Amino acid sequence: MSEPLDLSTTAGKLADLRNRYHEAVTQSSATAKEKQHAKGKNTARERIEMLLDPGSFVEVDEYVRHRSSSFGMDAKRPYGDSVVTGIGTIHGRQVAVYSQDFTIFGGSLGETAGNKIIKIMELAIKTGVPLIGMLDSGGARIQEGVIALGKYGEIFRLNTMASGVIPQISIIMGPAAGGAVYSPALTDFVIMVDKTSNMFVTGPDVIKTVTGEDVGMEDLGGARTHNETSGVAHYLADDEADAIDYVKSLVGYLPENNLSESVTYQSESELEITEADLKLNTVIPDSPNQPYDMHGIIEALVDEGEFLEVQPLFAPNIIIGFARIDGSSVGIVANQPQQMAGTLNIDAGEKAARFVRFCDAFSIPILTLVDVPGYLPGTDQEWAGVIRRGAKLLYAYAEATVPLVTVITRKAYGGAYIVMGSKQLGADINLAWPTAEIAVMGGQGAVNILFRDKIREAEAQGLDIAKVRDQLAKEYTYNVASPFLAAERGELDGIIEPAATRTAVIRSLRALKTKRANLPPKKHGNIPL
Ligand code: HXC
Repeated sequence: MSEPLDLSTTAGKLADLRNRYHEAVTQSSATAKEKQHAKGKNTARERIEMLLDPGSFVEVDEYVRHRSSSFGMDAKRPYGDSVVTGIGTIHGRQVAVYSQDFTIFGGSLGETAGNKIIKIMELAIKTGVPLIGMLDSGGARIQEGVIALGKYGEIFRLNTMASGVIPQISIIMGPAAGGAVYSPALTDFVIMVDKTSNMFVTGPDVIKTVTGEDVGMEDLGGARTHNETSGVAHYLADDEADAIDYVKSLVGYLPENNLSESVTYQSESELEITEADLKLNTVIPDSPNQPYDMHGIIEALVDEGEFLEVQPLFAPNIIIGFARIDGSSVGIVANQPQQMAGTLNIDAGEKAARFVRFCDAFSIPILTLVDVPGYLPGTDQEWAGVIRRGAKLLYAYAEATVPLVTVITRKAYGGAYIVMGSKQLGADINLAWPTAEIAVMGGQGAVNILFRDKIREAEAQGLDIAKVRDQLAKEYTYNVASPFLAAERGELDGIIEPAATRTAVIRSLRALKTKRANLPPKKHGNIPL
């Protein structure tokens, strides 16, 4: 039995603080470790340690306790409640964090945990630093009813206020159930850990009761489902360490807030064409139907070949992600000819639109690489609203005021030409390779409409129709789709050798550094949703 503390003395008060700190932090960490490690998960505090620079974490509110007395709650009032919050640094740059503690009331969110998250969000907004949430929670605290729901409402509102002001990142490291999923959904990037995280609005049991469908937790809302199928998540992490590494890299590309300078790293860009650049001259196959991997081109253009892809598993027919060029962050949007021939569909349009808007909100210039044969045809797409949902990408590019550089590597047909960062939508520098084809539609399609009579004649003469078609398509492509026609009209600013692209993009981005552009004053636009 230890001596009772004399709280009338300074020494007694200090000892009391140490005891309480021990109860709030050290002891609770030890209990949490046991429970979480048994499930192959880290504790809320371990996750913070993994994320932040060593020794940089400053915790707030470790002594708050809930005031609820319903259902015997007053018998258990742990310090800190079910979330750890505070500030710290990642690679020396300030961030605000919250990390839900599943070992306390299942990480559920009542008045106290809600207030802690709200306070750290307000601090992040006030100080203009990224907010990173690590979620592991059973959702609204059932015992607290409407008070818990109200706190979620406040969090959603703050997520919305913070949108476009500070970057917001959510790492899902356990359950995120019910309406609680809408906080991560409102943030810019959602990272999910394979096998241990799930997100759903209504769980398997409710689904079974209401619709009769039998579906497991993993299939319904596991990390793979949300990365490949729903597009809710932006990265599928192998484990918690992988999730945290991804977030650390991601933060490295992002400014602190919408008003801060872009992050620039020391870089000595070579402005002469290098041996590596020359390899780009052989990337485009002679056959227009032969695919190639757009990743290769991206890697050849960016500093150190380093590209942090976002949402790689969803709508892989379009590639989005961050890189550095000339030491500064850029967002890259590129068609991927290796997937669905690089056509645009609803998923690709929405994926790219949100990314373009993110980059624009945070003043990150966008490099667009174009090889797009058009929109994916079909009733599936039309009935699912490709008109309304496809318009988002047009809207996103048209309202973007950041520097926009576009390079057409091969096909740029129809509406898809316009949407992929065309001059008319507001791009600043538009370049093309001599292999570019820009027209209302591809050669084969155009021949069917323009040369119907010639084909009939050839048929009557018993000629090889396939050969005739091919010849006509080639003539059409040469005469109508040639990039020199677009350049003649000033719709392209230049036609360059592929090998000259890296240096041309660097010079373009340097020239655009001082770009000033304003939108007409308005409350907000009305993007098609
Ligand atoms: C209070 C909760 C809780 C909750 C879990 N716990 N969820 N306590 N409120 N929402 C408690 C459990 O009672 C248990 O306490 C401990 O946390 C661990 O939970 P387990 O069920 O033992 O863990 P596990 O088997 O891993 O299952 C996790 C789970 C399950 C899938 C999250 O607990 C679950 O289904 N919980 C309810 C989820 C839910 O429906 N939430 C409301 C969603 S609506 P003891 O004391 O036994 O350790 C919502 C609205 C948001 O969030 C607002 C929108 C506007």
